[in-house]
Amino acid sequence: MNGFPKDFIWGVACASYQCEGAWDEDGKGPNIWDDFCHDTAGNHIYNGENGDVACDSYHRYREDVALMKRFGIRAYRFSVSWARVIPDGDGEVNEKGLAYYDNLVNALLEAGIQPLMTLYHWDLPSALQDKGGWLNRDIVAAFGRYTRILAQRFRGRVRNYMTINEPQCVTVLGYGNGEHAPGLKMSDYSLAKIYHNICLAHSEAQRQIKAVDPQALVGIVPCGRLCYPEQDTPENREAAYQATFDLSRGWAFTFNIVLDSLIHRSYDPTAPQAVRDFAASIPASDWERMEAPDYIGINVYQGDMVDREGCFVPRYSGFPMTAFKWGVTPEVMRYGPQNLYRRYGLPMVITENGLSCNDRVYLDGKVHDLDRIDFLHRYLLQLKRGIEEGAPVKGYLQWSFLDNFEWGRGYSERFGMIYVDYRTLERTPKDSAHWYRQVIESNGGNL
Ligand code: BGC
Repeated sequence: MNGFPKDFIWGVACASYQCEGAWDEDGKGPNIWDDFCHDTAGNHIYNGENGDVACDSYHRYREDVALMKRFGIRAYRFSVSWARVIPDGDGEVNEKGLAYYDNLVNALLEAGIQPLMTLYHWDLPSALQDKGGWLNRDIVAAFGRYTRILAQRFRGRVRNYMTINEPQCVTVLGYGNGEHAPGLKMSDYSLAKIYHNICLAHSEAQRQIKAVDPQALVGIVPCGRLCYPEQDTPENREAAYQATFDLSRGWAFTFNIVLDSLIHRSYDPTAPQAVRDFAASIPASDWERMEAPDYIGINVYQGDMVDREGCFVPRYSGFPMTAFKWGVTPEVMRYGPQNLYRRYGLPMVITENGLSCNDRVYLDGKVHDLDRIDFLHRYLLQLKRGIEEGAPVKGYLQWSFLDNFEWGRGYSERFGMIYVDYRTLERTPKDSAHWYRQVIESNGGNL
């Protein structure tokens, strides 16, 4: 194949807590990110910031959709705030919350933009966390019910769902090192249990969607270590493949800790003892309930270079970095999807890719984000190579359309192609938005 496939999906992504605001309006219940941010004594978030208002997309979605249309965006990946739809997570449905997503989806469809709905992007209803959150297996049924309500409501309008965004961050950051809500620090054994509940919840949600709309596509969006070879030789490629999935080099932040369960219905033997102990306790009936997704969503930011012996190659002094101090490693876009395809054999979508820059409005009133254009350009060129070498990647979603609330970093990291002035909420398109429009129009031909 030469270049991007003809029906390649070009879009952008965001998540409810990061852009909606309206944290306690129209009957929405509290979620763990509301609580985590409001606990200012805990000092969890840069500058004591929170998502109470964020980009105010709850009120400004029409303006946002109009901007997407203006910049030629073909697909929008957004997430649903569970507590907006079911305030306590498992009880009464909040009609006003559902109405917001109705309006958003209708506005997207009218603008010719495909809605891609993520069901869970980290904002768990507080009432469910009070019962143990992802550690309590009851969450599987609650997530299934919530999903069914959405699938019934959006049947025929939403054709593509993603169940859970980055189970690895939910587990490791939320329950492992406490950096994210709910801010807990649990043992490896408990983390393995959380992963298992997440896999069961994904599977239950997938069954619910398919029961309502058999044609709908269902994906999951894991993340984790992605390695790429120092040199493009068969030995070095093999070493990068092995390093990507070797659980003995750090198990919790890997793709396979989730995808092996769902797709292979097993754990890799390189898992550490505590994880294998947990795996041994899983009843056969649980394995039978696992559902392989239709496709894998991959969020790609940076990767790790390995040499042909499989050792990590340290970054040299002055290595290119984003404003967040994440490495600029475009090669990960070429080899990452190929390695995932080799292990799982499923189609993929790049569900996030982007960077934060020190963007500001220049004297001429514009935002010249050359760094972003250069970064995305490099990553997309490598993605194209990966596709040409056989990785079936069906779409690419830039993170993010608007600057937004970047979790523990508050508003200090700007990932958007549209600049947001948080004092006025005014939106200003950056140069990259104009550039991306041309990428989409030419189906990557201008790269
Ligand atoms: C998450 C986003 C986040 C982005 C940049 C991803 O891990 O899904 O919510 O904003 O990375 O940190």
